[in-house]
Amino acid sequence: MTKLILQAGGALTGHCSVPGDKSISHRAVMFGGLAEGVSHVRGFLDGGDCRTTVALMRALGVQIDEVSPTEMLIHGRGFRGLQEPATVLDCGNSGTTIRLVVGLLAGQDFTSFLTGSEQIRRRPMGRVVKPLRGMGADILGRQDGNYAPLGIRPARLRGVEYDLPIASAQVKSCVLLAGLYANGLTVVREPGPARDHTERMLMAMGAPISVAGRTVMSESPRHALKPLDITVPGDMSSAAFLLVAAAIAPDSRIMITGVGVNPTRTGIVDALQAMGAEIVYHNRRDQAGEPVADIEVSTSALHGATFGGDAIVTMIDELPVLAVAATQAQGRTVVRNAAELRVKETDRIATTVGELRKMGARIEPTHDGFIIDGPTRLRAAPTEAHGDHRLAMALAVAGLVAEGRTVVYGAEVTSDSFPGFEFTLQALGADLVVEE
Ligand code: S3P
Repeated sequence: MTKLILQAGGALTGHCSVPGDKSISHRAVMFGGLAEGVSHVRGFLDGGDCRTTVALMRALGVQIDEVSPTEMLIHGRGFRGLQEPATVLDCGNSGTTIRLVVGLLAGQDFTSFLTGSEQIRRRPMGRVVKPLRGMGADILGRQDGNYAPLGIRPARLRGVEYDLPIASAQVKSCVLLAGLYANGLTVVREPGPARDHTERMLMAMGAPISVAGRTVMSESPRHALKPLDITVPGDMSSAAFLLVAAAIAPDSRIMITGVGVNPTRTGIVDALQAMGAEIVYHNRRDQAGEPVADIEVSTSALHGATFGGDAIVTMIDELPVLAVAATQAQGRTVVRNAAELRVKETDRIATTVGELRKMGARIEPTHDGFIIDGPTRLRAAPTEAHGDHRLAMALAVAGLVAEGRTVVYGAEVTSDSFPGFEFTLQALGADLVVEE
């Protein structure tokens, strides 16, 4: 088990980058496997969850050569080329893997089985199984398809019109992928701006996907999908920890280069700016069909603010670290309409509140978010990651401004999404020690 030991004091300065975007890395390997030809993906996230997707696509017959841990050559098997897997497909801890792949497999002409870690087997799958069954998919799962393991039998799918009950990119992507294998048009309407990497990437590959406001449509491709040749942008969800760290640690100024700033992902920047954070984008450009920028952030006098509605889905993964920022902000911060936090890697309302309270934060859970009063001089405490990468990193950031030696237990999990997190912080000047 890895422990991170942190002390306040180090100003954060200098340039850094963050590993490739997790959502885009997953999709590049999955969709590359469906292309006609070899996809070249640089800046791939060498993290646990994306490794799970690589192993899974290999089990479906896709040859993937690793030029380096972050550079992949994916030998696409064509749109109808996936092979029946010889054994149960293991989705590990990765919600994106299982929810997207079930959509991909629902319309195949072979049987497959999906399972995952204990954590993944506790997370809701009914949200994808229900619309897929509506398309004619033959899916079996524990508790009437609500939980993995899932079994998928061959089925002829038909297009569907589906109003997403929650703004979820995983569910949207799952239905759109199944739509590629269905007869007729699939129409998905989303209640909020969930991340749109699936649509962008599939459209770039020539798939018949179209977007009109909050309506996205897919249908079966008549032509081969073109292979990808991309460098994955840096992950905003990883940059978020550094943004908050530099905003709250005294005398800090850092530049994070090459971060994806797709507007469906930048809610955390908007939120921190609304709280008074000094964040500036430089050198905006396009990369892999996604907007990218270098982001400069410096120590800021933060104040509380209220967040809810459409903004929430654009920063859903960043809410634990936003809570850390709020403990250092003057006044009250309210996060509402974020009940989805309860079904992430952990119940992130309960775990964020529980762990930050150990450090003296004034934070109250609500049914769909939290209320934080600040500023608080946090106190060091032994804290626990609960197997949740984003919680581990949020606690480490809190440790950078807490009095005494903060310990984050179970911190090996940070490599699920941000391998090298601790070394990046050290290089910027944080007082951080790693102990195995
Ligand atoms: C993801 C979508 C989000 C996000 C997750 C990754 C994706 O989940 O929380 O970390 O890659 O599509 P939901 O779409 O279920 O909200």
